Amino acid sequence: MRIAVPDKHVHRLLNHGPTTMITTAHGTRRNVMAAAWVMPLDFTPPKFAAVVAADTWTRELLVASGECVLHAPTTLQADLCFEVGTHSGRDGDKFERFSIATEPATTVAAPLILGCAAWLECRVLVEPVMAERYDLFVLECTAAFADEALWYDGSWHFAPNGPRTIHHEKGGRFFATGELVMARR
Ligand SMILES: Cc1cc2nc3c(=O)[nH]c(=O)nc-3n(C[C@H](O)[C@H](O)[C@H](O)COP(=O)(O)O)c2cc1C
Repeated sequence: MRIAVPDKHVHRLLNHGPTTMITTAHGTRRNVMAAAWVMPLDFTPPKFAAVVAADTWTRELLVASGECVLHAPTTLQADLCFEVGTHSGRDGDKFERFSIATEPATTVAAPLILGCAAWLECRVLVEPVMAERYDLFVLECTAAFADEALWYDGSWHFAPNGPRTIHHEKGGRFFATGELVMARR
């Protein structure tokens, strides 16, 4: 079950550095790709930085629509994350090809992929120099949700053998988010 995450906690959804998937949509076109280079940039309103390469179809739809959804996939979606990160939507609809189930988002046209740990609906804050020079996009979150089985009391709670968020190293090698380590306070 998806629950809304208040603005003041949204940065925590990606603060531990998970790999994301980005959905985009413009007119009748829609797409999804993997993106590991996504990080929090500000608290409220929550902002994120994302590297979206110039040759991706995602980039085209992101620029055309000014919107996207960042997703935090789980260990159960590592295969999917790798597939959408190694095929281009230019070669065919990845939602059909990989049987990706979606729901409409609340503030953007890009769809929400079911089964993720978190969903962050975002609009692009236009920064042409950063986009052209570094493929870097500043995204402001307009609505965010998390799976209530994994996220409550403003924190992630991953069960020992349950689904976790994932971190990409290279070539389909992912690490699952590890054990909680509490610093002395
Ligand atoms: C795990 C993983 C992480 C990736 N991270 C990024 C990223 O942060 N930025 C990026 O531009 N491409 C990244 N890629 C590559 C894109 O996902 C890939 O180029 C994709 O095929 C683009 O799809 P599209 O043309 O349909 O948009 C990643 C790929 C994988 C497998």
